Amino acid sequence: LELQMNLEEIEKGGYDHFMLKEIYEQPRAIHDTYRGRLLADEGYIRMSGIDHNIERFLNANRIIIVACGTSWHAGLVAEYIFEDLARIPVEVEYASEFRYRNPVITEKDILIAVSQSGETADTLAAIKMAKEKGAFVFGVCNVVGSSIARETHAGAYTHAGPEIGVASTKAFTTQITVLTMIALKLAKEKGEFSQSKYHEFLTELEGIPQKVEKALKSNDLVEKIAEVYKDSTNCLYLGRGYNFPVALEGALKLKEISYIHAEGYPAAEMKHGPIALIDEEMPVVVIATRKGHYEKVVSNIQEIKSRSGKIIAIVTEGDETVKDIADHVVEVPESSEALTPLLTTIPLQLLSYHIALMRGCNVDQPRNLAKSVTVE
Ligand code: G6P
Repeated sequence: LELQMNLEEIEKGGYDHFMLKEIYEQPRAIHDTYRGRLLADEGYIRMSGIDHNIERFLNANRIIIVACGTSWHAGLVAEYIFEDLARIPVEVEYASEFRYRNPVITEKDILIAVSQSGETADTLAAIKMAKEKGAFVFGVCNVVGSSIARETHAGAYTHAGPEIGVASTKAFTTQITVLTMIALKLAKEKGEFSQSKYHEFLTELEGIPQKVEKALKSNDLVEKIAEVYKDSTNCLYLGRGYNFPVALEGALKLKEISYIHAEGYPAAEMKHGPIALIDEEMPVVVIATRKGHYEKVVSNIQEIKSRSGKIIAIVTEGDETVKDIADHVVEVPESSEALTPLLTTIPLQLLSYHIALMRGCNVDQPRNLAKSVTVE
């Protein structure tokens, strides 16, 4: 038993929990994901699964992304990126809903299945169904040789390394990295980008690991914020555009490991319901980076403030406006809007980690949850 415990300590690499280790591994993991694929200096992206099937992608009517849990959130981020940059229509579906609702699928559709484990039963079943209907199926998995990796026509691994913590962290950011590379590549092939704009994006993506490193420096501040809100019973997460799925993911992380009821919402939808919940007991995490509907989010923050809600804002470095209104601000480095999810996610992961720890929860193995759900 002692030997086993020592082994686990070694595996945790000096961190108290796998989740924290995996949060801190993200700069490296994202780098591993694009290494050998993203050639910013040469101005291109090489991904064999896409390169070998490029005509299919360029001629596709639409892309349907299916996934569950955190992987579904990565799919939602990808929807914004694919539509915004590559101008390809995208639908994102929960695998479980998709497979049971007799969806319209044709041979001109591409299904992208996103799964860390590559073993999620509903995602696997959705793939089989789409294949039967003639769609081309592409997998974005972390586990090499997994069932989904084998069942798909082509794919791209995330190369995040093993993820042990049940709450997914580095799998999420590396899934977004892979999906961003695919979107950029298709955008370029479709002529949506000039070579210089493309080059600019590639260079920026290449610089993301350093920015994630910087975002991780918010850890001590986030721990102090966690101390203030650890006894909350509810928490609301708001974001717009690219950061709406990040709000969903932030809320999922908190509820998974701390058992605090948390909901993610598109910021503007707040007035259609959640605003009724706001009082001095309600912490509201708002993603308010400078690029991306900034003024609108600021006015949402004012609405919360005037109802005595407590605001934890995730802002761009150097922001002054939100600092004046919010109760707490956590800065992330500046980036183009499409890449902000890779940065804004970091403080939200840390926040849920610290709150769960302070509440005495089992961070790596939350109750009732499984790392991979292989039953329907
Ligand atoms: C479970 C895990 C989540 C994960 C989801 C989808 O619920 O606890 O962390 O996001 O399954 O898993 P997959 O392996 O398909 O990404």
